[in-house]
Amino acid sequence: MRFLIIVCLIPIIACSNQAEDKRSTNEATAFDTTTVIKEGQKITQAAFSTLSSNLQQAIAEGGVKNALQFCSIRAMPLTDSLSAHYNVELRRASHQPRNPKNQADSLEVATIQKYLVQIKKEESLEPVTIAHGDKINYHAPIRIPGQLCLNCHGRPGQDISKADLKTIQELYPNDQATGFEMGELRGIWSVQFSQSYVDSLAKTL
Ligand code: HEC
Repeated sequence: MRFLIIVCLIPIIACSNQAEDKRSTNEATAFDTTTVIKEGQKITQAAFSTLSSNLQQAIAEGGVKNALQFCSIRAMPLTDSLSAHYNVELRRASHQPRNPKNQADSLEVATIQKYLVQIKKEESLEPVTIAHGDKINYHAPIRIPGQLCLNCHGRPGQDISKADLKTIQELYPNDQATGFEMGELRGIWSVQFSQSYVDSLAKTL
């Protein structure tokens, strides 16, 4: 009998927990979207220029092969150190990742799918903010802007030389990041802010 009572109570407890979750989500939505977008843009622009200047230097010093090796060793530590610097979780996520660690999670996949639909409809892609629990996420598109990227993400044998393709496959046996064309969605920037970070932004307004 006691067991039965416990079993019967579980759905009630589960239900009240849900109410709790909902409340905290609502509290988390109390942020200024424009401010979060501005902060997200600031951080991802800093990350982009760090990555792209390092990439260009590595190509200048030793060609695409050298840059591939450089990216495989340095891309993650560079984004991780920017995460630490800004006290956020910054990453590049993709539906077709080269590094499996950059595989998009469910929130990121939802944004990517939305962007893919918008690209099909030739609409412009805007940054997205999502509140969940006590976190606020910022997503922004990463499209292939130019020929440089195609050296390592374009069509094998055409944009990517056979030798470079071999290096890619050696470094990333499960690579999914080739076959892209100009303008295509390569992935997204993903920045996760804590609620306290966003609160501190509001205070500096
Ligand atoms: C020299 C080769 C090279 C070039 C050029 C290059 N990439 Fe990459 N890219 C890589 C490698 C290697 C990785 C995996 C890095 C890692 O292990 O974290 C990567 C990863 C990425 C990722 C993270 C998601 C994933 O697939 O792991 C994005 C997004 C990306 N590249 C976009 C671009 C864009 C946009 C350009 C042009 C501005 C570009 N790349 C140019 C080699 C290159």
